[in-house]
Amino acid sequence: MNEDQVYPPAPDFVHRAHVSGMDAYKALYEHARTQPEDFWRSLAEKELFWFEKWDHVFEWDPPRVKWFAGGKTNVCYNCVDRHAEGAREAKVAIQWIGEPGDERAITYRELLRMVSRFANVLKACGLAAGDRAVIYMPMVPEAAVAMLACARLGIVHSVVFGGFSSEALKARIQDLGAAVVLTADGGWRRGKEVRLKDAVDQALEDCPTVRDVIVLRRTESQVKMRDGRDHWWHELEAAASDDCPAEPLDAEHPLYVLYTSGTTGKPKGILHTTGGYLLQTTMSMKWVFDIRDEDVYWCTADIGWVTGHSYVVYGPLSAGATTVMYEGAPDYPAFDRWWRIVEKHRVSIFYSSPTAIRALIRQGDQWPNACDLSSLRLLGSVGEPINPAAWEWYYRVIGKGCCPIVDTWWQTETGSILIAAMPGAVPLKPGSATLPMPGILPEVIDFSGNPVPDGQEGFLIIDRPWPSMARTLWGDPQRYEDQYWRRVRGKYFTGDAARRDADGYYWILGRVDDVMNVSGHRLSTMEVESALVRHRAVAEAAVVGKPHEITGQAVCAFVTLKEGNWDHHRLGGELRQWVAKEIGAFARPEEIRFTEALPKTRSGKIMRRLLREIVTSHTVSGDVTTLEDLSVVTRLSSQPSDED
Ligand code: PRX
Repeated sequence: MNEDQVYPPAPDFVHRAHVSGMDAYKALYEHARTQPEDFWRSLAEKELFWFEKWDHVFEWDPPRVKWFAGGKTNVCYNCVDRHAEGAREAKVAIQWIGEPGDERAITYRELLRMVSRFANVLKACGLAAGDRAVIYMPMVPEAAVAMLACARLGIVHSVVFGGFSSEALKARIQDLGAAVVLTADGGWRRGKEVRLKDAVDQALEDCPTVRDVIVLRRTESQVKMRDGRDHWWHELEAAASDDCPAEPLDAEHPLYVLYTSGTTGKPKGILHTTGGYLLQTTMSMKWVFDIRDEDVYWCTADIGWVTGHSYVVYGPLSAGATTVMYEGAPDYPAFDRWWRIVEKHRVSIFYSSPTAIRALIRQGDQWPNACDLSSLRLLGSVGEPINPAAWEWYYRVIGKGCCPIVDTWWQTETGSILIAAMPGAVPLKPGSATLPMPGILPEVIDFSGNPVPDGQEGFLIIDRPWPSMARTLWGDPQRYEDQYWRRVRGKYFTGDAARRDADGYYWILGRVDDVMNVSGHRLSTMEVESALVRHRAVAEAAVVGKPHEITGQAVCAFVTLKEGNWDHHRLGGELRQWVAKEIGAFARPEEIRFTEALPKTRSGKIMRRLLREIVTSHTVSGDVTTLEDLSVVTRLSSQPSDED
């Protein structure tokens, strides 16, 4: 990457920005660094509504932290009521576009009505603060309504991405002990129906804690409704009242659990709480997205991922913005779908992923060039490193050379953006997430925990707690401590490698653990391996991420088979389908390589590092039909190293 390429903010952008100029950024950063209590206290007072004031700004007993404990607030109230009852009453809160072309513009006032009614529906099902609700829905406004209604009552929600299979859904419902599942008949994706209710029915064969299923009618297709358990959303809602006051909840009350992949086969339930999470997601809307009342803001993420939580729903609504939600795929019915939406709805801030950008680059400039993109003023990127070529295209073809690009580094665990440019202050370098947010103290360290000099690669860690950080893993506090807080005591281990340059800019280099990043989605190698070994033909499996031009990484599986006469070609296809069934279509291996043996250390651990080398450097070639003999590499490489 060429680190010398620098794009300073344009003077008119600087002039109008919330944070205007480098000195303003530095002043904020220094204030947060030297007086964190004062910094966050004044923001919490100014930016959020509280029913009751807190006792302490934060209490830090690593790895346990509390922010604004004793304070009473409500996320839904902050996202909806305070706007609906004020000057933004008639402002569009959610501008929704369905894949078939249907559209809805929901004002803050209407959103309050929808959320209140649905919260009453949840109450009537006997749900109360602390209960768990699983949300398995398409990208429709009711998905956001479901999240907000839970937040209104203190019901802990867990959104499961609609692309996950019934098996994955079941594991999450069971882990949470959820009492209710909120779903739809289906959703639209590339003109086909994603049949969500069918998947729920399968999952619930083994989920005794679920008492009720509430089903939104979206596709109008035939679904089975089980008497006593399943209810139509519109029927329950029709009977509910509009009046449902938001519950005053402790700032540390759990808001949601979101499952993400870790280094084992079992996903981790990341727990986020109320006050600190909301404060920092709200602040990043101002600091990073420079949000203003006249903006039309569009984050293309699905609500099933953390980006959809923080930057489709909670952040933008708390900031009183108009947030765009689109149900379908970027290439349906044609490759200009996104740009047509930008044109029609005069989108001014557009936040997406490098994978999507690379996929659209491939289709040629004629698609965006045929649309009027002059409403855009700021672009964003998240989920994986953006390569400078994609950055340049995004900047030139989409932003027409006059929209800054904020490359935002963060994680499910961090809750909000931690490293990114404030666009009216920080000069950009393509490929770098640039500088930390106020209150964030990143360090790059070596194996022994010592800081490495600028310019050298190391592990990225964060010193000090921040308001929106995960509090624990649902049901597994020990794993939380082991995973994030053991490497350097009292400092958060991100699992990413990074480098800081001489200007203090951070360059994120990717994961250092067995987590793959496919299209900006986290996927554990072990999760896919566990799925594969559940198949009757598979003896052992080892999965690695392989570099991929569009999706960043693709799943590559090395598989050894049980005794038998297997047709490798057929089996390859069958195993791909199997993984889609066990986890979801997005986890389907791109490549399956059958082998006689897997390279292992003396203690029997699979050497994924070696397999990564094989798929990266193509030292061993093969396709799905060839049986590879890795025993040679095994012998050569299983010498002293026990790591990996
Ligand atoms: O490796 C980093 C990568 O995505 C991981 C977090 O994934 P997840 O929890 O699914 O959250 C994704 C959306 C926030 C990180 O550990 N990552 C995320 N953003 C960037 C990134 N890598 C480089 N640059 C980014 N901007």
